[in-house]
Amino acid sequence: MIILGIETSCDETAVALIASENGTDIAVLADKTLTQIELHAQYGGVFPNMAKREHAKNLVPLLKEILKETGFLKLKVKSEELKVEEDVQTMLAREPEMLDAFLKFIPTIEKPTIDAIAVTEGPGLEPCLWTGINFAKALSLVWNIPVIPVNHMEGHIFSALLSRKNEISNSPNYLISNKNPKSEIQISNGEAISYQLSAISYPSLSLLISGGHTELVLIKSEGEYEIVGQTRDDAVGEAFDKVARLLGLPYPGGPPLSALAERARTNADSTQTDAEKIRLPRPMIHSNDFDFSFSGIKTSVLYLTKKLPALTDNIKREISLEFENAVTEVLLAKTKAAAERYGARTLILGGGVVANAHIRREFEKMAVELNVPLHIPEKTLTTDNAPMIAAAGIARAGKAGSFETESLRAKGNLRLGAKLTNTLL
Ligand code: KG4
Ligand code: ZN
Repeated sequence: MIILGIETSCDETAVALIASENGTDIAVLADKTLTQIELHAQYGGVFPNMAKREHAKNLVPLLKEILKETGFLKLKVKSEELKVEEDVQTMLAREPEMLDAFLKFIPTIEKPTIDAIAVTEGPGLEPCLWTGINFAKALSLVWNIPVIPVNHMEGHIFSALLSRKNEISNSPNYLISNKNPKSEIQISNGEAISYQLSAISYPSLSLLISGGHTELVLIKSEGEYEIVGQTRDDAVGEAFDKVARLLGLPYPGGPPLSALAERARTNADSTQTDAEKIRLPRPMIHSNDFDFSFSGIKTSVLYLTKKLPALTDNIKREISLEFENAVTEVLLAKTKAAAERYGARTLILGGGVVANAHIRREFEKMAVELNVPLHIPEKTLTTDNAPMIAAAGIARAGKAGSFETESLRAKGNLRLGAKLTNTLL
């Protein structure tokens, strides 16, 4: 089965082609992401309508690239008008930046051997989600293939379960399943990365930390989710971004802030004169539930920066270090408490903040302590990406018989499951 994955929930336009015969061995045949970080950096955050326009401009060229790269692009001998052109016009009426490119390109190519399209339906920025969904719907209509709606957060969970089997292979032929020679898929000049979907024991506990979300999700069995904890205000990534801004660091703030923290952490010569005074709160660390709150730390940093006579490089490094420590300690404490409370047999980390080296290391230590396996996405799969959406789509396709494309809509506040009110007790 070949799946086209599409992700447009925030500021990354991502498309990927993945192949899997059994739902477990997964080959990423092509994977392209265009990030809009630089565009939004000047405003210090993502502008939904600007992001939407970018997605609309990017999707057709990105599709063309991945089809070309995988040898799936076959030009028609004679280009003919789309039979469903009017319907496509209606579907893409709100995507003027895409419509023209779509109508110029799609009618010129043979239907590729793609079996289904997996697209993010939510959560995320609704205008952005709509662009991906409308694109998926239009392709589905022209090629007569189903669209599988995917929850973005479930995608992040799958990103952690994709464990790499090989380094990039440059072989022109890629064998999808060596058990069944007939499943060989020919890819001219293709580069494929093959993954194995890790099998996990249930219940499993997943901590999802990104710019928009901070959630502790209990996975009771395959596809059965319950939210046991979440942030009451800022998401972890958002807190990193806001504190970084207070320190005069560029957007998104996570990477530069964690680089400063890492330098302070490894800098044995650090004099710590001013820095010794720096102490930030660990909000809700002892609360009787699994919820989080990060806006207080940001406010503390704000007061601190106002109080300090100067934001020297040394102080910036020490604030970064203390901030990263405070956030990590809260994440660890809550995850540990929830893992013990629910008897988690696997731990999963997902989301952009998982790129953070300190957080990765500390969770690795905790997993050893708890004696449970920990699944962390490889670095390239921490940020929003399309392979994770396609992989989650394969799992959904295996469960549900068919999908209703007509009623598919963007769901900005889509949740993975009900929020449990259970506490530590
Ligand atoms: O998952 P993601 O790419 O997009 C959302 O769905 O939000 O996450 C982006 C967030 C940003 O807030 C960014 O600052 C943060 O992840 N981030 C980091 C690091 N790399 C990215 N936060 C802390 N440490 C990092 N190394
Ligand atoms: Zn995300």
